[in-house]
Amino acid sequence: MPSLRLDLSVRSNTTLQRLRPRLEERYAHRVDPGMWESFKRRLESQFEALFAPVFALYGDHYDFFFHLETIVQTITEAWIEREGGLCGLDALREEDRSWFQSHRMVGATCYVDLFAGGFKALGDHLPYLKELGITYLHLMPIFRSPEGEDDGGYAVSDYRNVDPKLGTVEELREVATLFRQHGISLALDFVLNHTADEHEWAKRALDGDPNFQAYYRMFPDRELPDAYERNLHDVFPDDHDGAFSYRPRIKQWVWTTFHTYQWDLNYANPALLRQMTEEMLFLANLGVEVIRMDAVAFLWKELGTDCQNLPHAHDVLRVFSAAARIAAPATTLKSEAIVHPDEVRKYIHMDECQLSYNPQLMALLWDALATRKTTGLRVAMERRFQIDPGCAWVNYVRCHDDIGWAFSDEEVEAAGFDPRSHRRFLTKFYTGQHEGSFSRGLVFQENPETGDARVSGMTASLAGLEHAIEIDDPAEIELAIRRIVLLHGVIMTIGGMPLIYLGDEIAMLNDYGFEDDREKYADSRWVHRPPFDWERSERRHDNSTPEGRVYQSLQRLIQLRTQSLAFDRAETEFVDVGNEHVFAFFRNRDEHSALIIANFSENPQSISAKRLRNLGLRKTVVDTFKGEVITAGHELDVEPYQLMVLATGSSHAAARAALD
Ligand code: GLC
Repeated sequence: MPSLRLDLSVRSNTTLQRLRPRLEERYAHRVDPGMWESFKRRLESQFEALFAPVFALYGDHYDFFFHLETIVQTITEAWIEREGGLCGLDALREEDRSWFQSHRMVGATCYVDLFAGGFKALGDHLPYLKELGITYLHLMPIFRSPEGEDDGGYAVSDYRNVDPKLGTVEELREVATLFRQHGISLALDFVLNHTADEHEWAKRALDGDPNFQAYYRMFPDRELPDAYERNLHDVFPDDHDGAFSYRPRIKQWVWTTFHTYQWDLNYANPALLRQMTEEMLFLANLGVEVIRMDAVAFLWKELGTDCQNLPHAHDVLRVFSAAARIAAPATTLKSEAIVHPDEVRKYIHMDECQLSYNPQLMALLWDALATRKTTGLRVAMERRFQIDPGCAWVNYVRCHDDIGWAFSDEEVEAAGFDPRSHRRFLTKFYTGQHEGSFSRGLVFQENPETGDARVSGMTASLAGLEHAIEIDDPAEIELAIRRIVLLHGVIMTIGGMPLIYLGDEIAMLNDYGFEDDREKYADSRWVHRPPFDWERSERRHDNSTPEGRVYQSLQRLIQLRTQSLAFDRAETEFVDVGNEHVFAFFRNRDEHSALIIANFSENPQSISAKRLRNLGLRKTVVDTFKGEVITAGHELDVEPYQLMVLATGSSHAAARAALD
């Protein structure tokens, strides 16, 4: 009996043979023959990667071939429309699919309106980004969304037209081209789990059109919603209970995982997947190099499950990924899955999302800062940091969202804490409710039933700067600055792409203005979405200010990262240096190696020099971050919250080879 895999290959091949002449007839005359040949080669090499998930999703539909063919047509048409300049990038990226692993890559995120005002003005701020060393810029949602409440743009009313306040699609395309010319890759969101209820499709559904009602998940009574809800977890409990919202006009319960105005799309409908493939490739053809796949955990629903991270959610992503590789190979997908670490990892694959946020690292960095202990962080990283070698983590300290304690219970237990009470402690700590806390965050979406809650706040406020300035204590200010630099030091060096939440590089504080805004006051995430403070940024070269200190330290870290080969596509090796307050790891590439040492406590720490020598370090080492030669006789002394980047050259590599 042939194996299942072989069977799939045979089916895929047969299908391709049937499709080929039909595509040839429809499209070959529209393009240059040489280009057509190269497209066909690409389609052939990627066809099984497309066929397999489409078949897994819809193989039992009577009209499967029809839907597959329309998806392939959509991909082909998007390729035909692709601009010459982007095709050049496609060719380069096909040669180097893991381009984002380069140590040259340093990311930043911003809201266009809050950072610059609009697309044109964003172009004017290019020098600022270049001065810092940014090579990747994620613009928060820019497409049309409802006036008033719109979940920060994550309720999209139109995937083809941008928010008119920001400019036009043409201006966006121009800014993407300008940034690309300056070596900055643009990233945009693809909000693919839901649309706004103002989207044309939702309006048509509300008008009673069954084809558009089938784009969403709607139920005429509570029978199925009740059945589903038995296993669902509330995502935004402040907004509504359960996952459904009633629409009296059509007398239907609509699936709304997030806000009531965000309608979940129905990927069980192949026509919807085809449509969304077209929307995604539109983004790729704008010159977007990284597409952030929003809320991927929720894409598929099945009765009797919690409707998160289901296998078919992965199939849906595999279809998008294959479509991008065929039509626009310069494009890379990044997954946004803020779920259990084991599930986060499953989205990371060359055939799925090649990049992924690293929510576990983010949460554990804050955990280590609160507890002053790094055991949980080290154990978690040892177990879960390695991913598919062609892929990369996107490591961040803060983003536009809340901080959820998205680490696994096992690692909390390994560190000696009870997971439930530990998570509560962290929320209390970061919202300033714990005695001795330096932090000034706000609670986000507290669930009274489970006791779960998340935290909002800017890095600087969470790390103690706001409080220290209030009590006007220079020593506390110093500690807060060091904490901010420490966290960023880890994300810059640990492996993967660092992502700075713009504003953090100049230590911007919480913005409480949202509390007076009718549309925002109920969502505490707005406390960390302030307008960019350009006046503050003018002091970035002034070393006597916190903003100057933080900015210059981050700039120095970026320079270190991009200048040292120890950070270029290098492996990461976590080490236990025998001091629970200190987190440490090597970066190794061939003969290049660096040891990063991060003290998560406000007290000086020491590491036994013998231990360091066992790890292959010499007595005299250079801390490239501080620019200092250190001789560790008996012990290596580490200052409060100090980050050291020790150049270990070939000695560590040799020590490792000797051990092997
Ligand atoms: C993602 C976004 C978040 C948004 C949600 C719903 O998690 O990061 O801001 O609320 O998706 O789209």
